[in-house]
Amino acid sequence: MAAGSASLLPLMVVLCAATSGTALAAITDGLLANGNFERGPAPSQLRGTRVVGASAIPSWRTSGFVEYIPSGRKQGDMVLVVPEGSHAVRLGNEASIRQRLAGAARGARYALTFSAARTCAQAERLNVSASGQWAVLPMQTMYSSNGWDSYAWAWDAAADVFDVVIHNPGVTEDPACGPLIDSVAIRTLNTPRRTNKNLVKNGDFEEGPYIIPGTKWGVLIPSMVVDEHSPLPGWMVESLKAVKYIDSDHFAVPRGRRAVELLAGRESAIAQVIRTVPGRQYALSFTVGDASNGCEGSLVVEAYAGRESTRVAHESAGRGGAAKRAVLPFRAAAARTRVVFFSSFYSTRSDDMSSLCGPVIDDVAVVSVRARRPAAKRG
Ligand SMILES: *[C@@H]1O[C@H](CO)[C@@H](O)[C@H](O)[C@H]1NC(C)=O
Repeated sequence: MAAGSASLLPLMVVLCAATSGTALAAITDGLLANGNFERGPAPSQLRGTRVVGASAIPSWRTSGFVEYIPSGRKQGDMVLVVPEGSHAVRLGNEASIRQRLAGAARGARYALTFSAARTCAQAERLNVSASGQWAVLPMQTMYSSNGWDSYAWAWDAAADVFDVVIHNPGVTEDPACGPLIDSVAIRTLNTPRRTNKNLVKNGDFEEGPYIIPGTKWGVLIPSMVVDEHSPLPGWMVESLKAVKYIDSDHFAVPRGRRAVELLAGRESAIAQVIRTVPGRQYALSFTVGDASNGCEGSLVVEAYAGRESTRVAHESAGRGGAAKRAVLPFRAAAARTRVVFFSSFYSTRSDDMSSLCGPVIDDVAVVSVRARRPAAKRG
């Protein structure tokens, strides 16, 4: 970059900050500026819990009915618990929070992670957007016992400055309904590549969204029905419900630091389309285990490679360990073969029957198992 344009950059940043009234944060992996909402509005900018003024919460802009919620606050007979620190925000009808980020690499892919909890019984949704891309994430199922789940969503930066927006599109009679939000974080995703050893991209799941330290419930990778950009590079969540991205700090992970828990039975599947040579013989291999989260019993993973399939049972004591390697040999029928994994049925945790759980899958590989036959002569 020429010295001239480089020296312009800080000036532009200052100008943008001045016009928008919001300080611009550079993009580094981890929580956004005040991403855990620990810095709150001045007392004069609060009416009870209601936030008054669009820039009352440091580093954020808000619109609509936004509340600033201290942990331990009572709502009806429910005590609101905040997952990180002692404050969160609540987005009422049509309310949104946004933060402007600068210094993105154009075309780079970013993943947003945030924690959310429902406060009323009805199904709630959040519309997350950045750089003109958006997705509506359903929060119809609660996966963790304390009511909080973390969600991930990814997009490609269209410009070096963009706003990250979380919007509650809901309209309910009770304005105090609407999800609580905490711990908003970002991570730059690297593009995983297939290697000549493994045709599967990101088969070890090491590349994925930021996992907020201290959250014991992993990160949900929502179904991609409404979103082509997966926060788990290489992989798609094809079915109705989310899969859970877990890390070795909080769970048992068969290999490396990250893996995927298939926690919604046949309703949550992960898939990847790999390039294959028709007629050639391959082996799909993968590791099945449990996350050490009290998911006991016989957990069964179903794996598909094109039309071939296998079922692999893992007798789980719910304490991790004893992960097993399985292999599915297959002959490719086409130039592309779809590899799919899902759990055969729902399970719940022995310590908390309301929490869904399932087998963990890790370390997925597809290799060609036969030396290439000489190509047939053409014409
Ligand atoms: C979600 O938000 C984006 C950006 O504000 C908007 O363009 C889109 O229409 C919204 N989608 C829905 C379903 O509300």
